[in-house]
Amino acid sequence: MQKITIAIDGYSSTGKSTVAKQLADHLGYVYVDSGAMYRAVTLYAMQKGIISKKHFDVEKLKKSLSEIHLKFHKEAAWNKAHIFLNGKDVEDKIRNLEVSEFVSPIATIHEVRAKLVAQQQQMGLEKGVVMDGRDIGTVVFPRAELKIFMNASAEERAQRRYKELLARGEKIHLDEVLKNIQERDHIDTTRADSPLLQAKDAIVIDNSEMNLQDQFHTVLQLAKDRIAGR
Ligand code: DC
Repeated sequence: MQKITIAIDGYSSTGKSTVAKQLADHLGYVYVDSGAMYRAVTLYAMQKGIISKKHFDVEKLKKSLSEIHLKFHKEAAWNKAHIFLNGKDVEDKIRNLEVSEFVSPIATIHEVRAKLVAQQQQMGLEKGVVMDGRDIGTVVFPRAELKIFMNASAEERAQRRYKELLARGEKIHLDEVLKNIQERDHIDTTRADSPLLQAKDAIVIDNSEMNLQDQFHTVLQLAKDRIAGR
């Protein structure tokens, strides 16, 4: 059967990765979490003292880019591929609130985006890929056969993210999570390079009131139609 490319973009914590992963598993496609790549670069910058609450050495980050090697790898026992930064599994480390605070400024840097977009395009060369992010339908795969743009209210997204972080044992307040989401929305949508915007040919799904099952069935039907050439 003909394989297609599926781009899923949208705001932070809209559940893009959940639906993208479900869809990829169902279709036997590769799932790529492009946000994990920006998060891994952020973790590198934090570890090297390039970014902190007090400063951000953009030039040093640009010079260090050739030393940052990212790879996805999946073991049979894992539910999804983990991201490796210079050979180390950092899947767990990149999900905390500290990385979330620094990732949007890191993702505004043109040279960072150019490096990651090139790697993402390589991963999609053979189609059969579901990639989620902010610029997948607009920049990475502008010719993707199916583009979905996901949205939900900031309050609903903050609630979901808050529950996730609590389950991971993080001690945080809902207010902090909402503030982080609103700040990231602002930076992601107003940055000069590849801002988060809906591709003209994207199908919008607002899942504020949808459960995971309804959302999956909606997206699966869209994918089946595209695969059948409808
Ligand atoms: O999807 P996420 O929340 O893990 O993404 C983390 C950050 O990375 C997000 O605030 C914006 C950035 N990002 C991006 O600029 N482009 C992408 N394709 C994916 C993520």
